[in-house]
Amino acid sequence: MPDLEIVHHAAPQALSTQLMAAPASIPPKYLYDELGSRLFEAICLLPEYYPTRTEAAIFQQHQDEIIEAVGLGRTLVDLGAGNCAKAARLIPALQTAHYVPIDISVDFLKQAILPLQQLYPHLPITPLGMDFSQGIELPKSLREERCIFFYPGSSIGNFQPDEAAQFLQRLTAASDQPSDLLIGVDLEKPAHVLEAAYNDALGVTAAFNLNVLRHVNRLLGSDFDTHDWRHIALFNQAEHRVEMHLEARRALTVHWPAHSRRFRQSERIHTESSYKYTKKSLNDLLEHARYKLCNTWTDANDWFAIVHARPAHSITR
Ligand code: TRP
Repeated sequence: MPDLEIVHHAAPQALSTQLMAAPASIPPKYLYDELGSRLFEAICLLPEYYPTRTEAAIFQQHQDEIIEAVGLGRTLVDLGAGNCAKAARLIPALQTAHYVPIDISVDFLKQAILPLQQLYPHLPITPLGMDFSQGIELPKSLREERCIFFYPGSSIGNFQPDEAAQFLQRLTAASDQPSDLLIGVDLEKPAHVLEAAYNDALGVTAAFNLNVLRHVNRLLGSDFDTHDWRHIALFNQAEHRVEMHLEARRALTVHWPAHSRRFRQSERIHTESSYKYTKKSLNDLLEHARYKLCNTWTDANDWFAIVHARPAHSITR
């Protein structure tokens, strides 16, 4: 089994600072401890959470064209690989030469690659455990390989648009070769559809959001009690994003070493935004990040888009 390279996170000083701020927030990467990764897997199975299913259907329907566009025999860099299920379906079709799953949830990733190794015993797999939200650094040998940066599930929507552009731009610098981008992006749609996707009837998404407090307790030594908080999801039309918050059910104080933070009743902690794009704003994003959009595939409702793009400078006319 390949060694899992673990890039350790800096001490969660930023986390402490963000919790003291008004309004308070928690960086969304902390949603993904081992339980969080499993809860997110469950979210992907919910009838209300259309993105996973819609994206998979687009891949299935347009598989031949997508493969033709990105080319065979590349290195597949899977950003936020999670359970690796999405890549697993692409690997044989793309005749992937090298699979590089990257995820912050290291233990989860370790388990996720085991079945892949059995399924494709000749496929070199280089799992990387790292937080790539501030940029990505590939091991030296990988810089030479012609990569496809695979970023499905609309995770790009979890960045603010200017940060998303910066992130995409940094990807081009991560490799010495011109690399293709294959990303899944959630599109704007009626608010009730969006809000149901982030506030399902069973409360799985609520559990996923609340679980971040337990993860924070372990990281900071804080004393958040999940019973005191309520999951909120709302579509902020003006900002083109679904916002996830945790709302205090009563006035309370949370303590961690050298800190205490009072929350009023109904005060919120912002845990994640999920930006929704239009075809136009998506094109603007890619242009801003200096990519050239090569192709877009969508479903019949135009709910979700899979986009293939290349660094603009690598395109010869
Ligand atoms: N990347 C996912 C998304 O934006 C993450 C996600 C899904 C999520 N459901 C959530 C994050 C609920 C927080 C709460 O769609």
